[in-house]
Amino acid sequence: MGESSAATASSRLDALPATVAKKIAVCVIESNPRVQMDISDSLLSFYQTFQFTSGGQAIDSMAQRPPAVLLLDELAPPRGGIAVLQSLRSEEALKDLPVVCLLDRHNAGFIEDAKRLGVDTFLRKPFKRSTLLGAISDKVNSGVEASWEKIEPVQKAALQETVGVFNKISDLISEGSEIPYKDVQDSCDPLVKAVHNQCFSDILTNVKGHDNYSYVHSLRVATFLTIFGHAAGFRDDELQTLASGGLVHDIGKMSIPHEVLNKPGRLTDDEWNVMRSHVDITQVILKRSDEIPRGVRIIAEQHHEKLDGTGYPHGIIGKNLNELARMASIVDIFSALTDRRVYKDPMPAEKALLIMKDMTDGLDMPLLSLFTQVLLDAKNRDALQ
Ligand SMILES: [Fe+2]
Ligand SMILES: [Fe+2]
Repeated sequence: MGESSAATASSRLDALPATVAKKIAVCVIESNPRVQMDISDSLLSFYQTFQFTSGGQAIDSMAQRPPAVLLLDELAPPRGGIAVLQSLRSEEALKDLPVVCLLDRHNAGFIEDAKRLGVDTFLRKPFKRSTLLGAISDKVNSGVEASWEKIEPVQKAALQETVGVFNKISDLISEGSEIPYKDVQDSCDPLVKAVHNQCFSDILTNVKGHDNYSYVHSLRVATFLTIFGHAAGFRDDELQTLASGGLVHDIGKMSIPHEVLNKPGRLTDDEWNVMRSHVDITQVILKRSDEIPRGVRIIAEQHHEKLDGTGYPHGIIGKNLNELARMASIVDIFSALTDRRVYKDPMPAEKALLIMKDMTDGLDMPLLSLFTQVLLDAKNRDALQ
């Protein structure tokens, strides 16, 4: 496909999906102003918080617009946390709302009553910021993952199996163990099948609300890379390689500090060097496993390389850059631009593709034209919303 048809294709992509722009909403009912302030500060960069000092006021507001999670003080005014929970569970819109209870002391009676009202997470004050963020993230993700039950079986399996493997990989990396490639490959079977059946929009739509950005980005790269490969004539094992390569291409980022990974502003030179090191870290992790195919290693090693040699880590130039790496580079940039981040709105697909069209020295333009056409075809088939 030539440049002019690519331009026509990209000009018609304005209706392609943009992910949800706003931050995830968390409500807080806390009686102590100082704890309230600590919670606000802790959540500021990650969630949109709504603070309440009284249960009644909070329930009216939450019933209008349910948050993803409620943080509830055991002493919430006016009649304590249990009274709030009882009112909450009698509201249709809030009966399943995930709640994290905040305790001043170990209160066995409160815990027992709250458990009966569907609470299973309790944090004792003072709690660490990371503990609070982890508890909220777990709750958000359980809610998102429960909503996957309703979607079409192959696409549901693609989400459930990849998130399971991704979480397992995260644990194995922190233990220094090898990545079981067979598990990665098996988890990508439903994704490859969904793409082969041209039925994958539920995967992209339903991963959006997940609170593990690394997983969301990796699954989006895996999905777009598989769609791209399928359109380019790749089949079977080759599609498996693209899907698996997409899923593990950034696993080295699991070792990059949170503050660098999620920094809203510009990175300093030192931070940028730390960020770039994720490619080398990924290589080290993948080298622990003998059975990882060469194609997967190339995607992980070369997805930040550019045709003009300005990429990293090797500065590979022109024809020395593998075709899989050229595809991965296009998909990685597209996904990063259109991903939702806590600090930025997702860019519409049309704008992302127009920006990428100007990267003439770095990206493989015939492949970018094909990728643009692939997205447009999927949109026209209603395979993308
Ligand atoms: Fe990367
Ligand atoms: Fe990436």
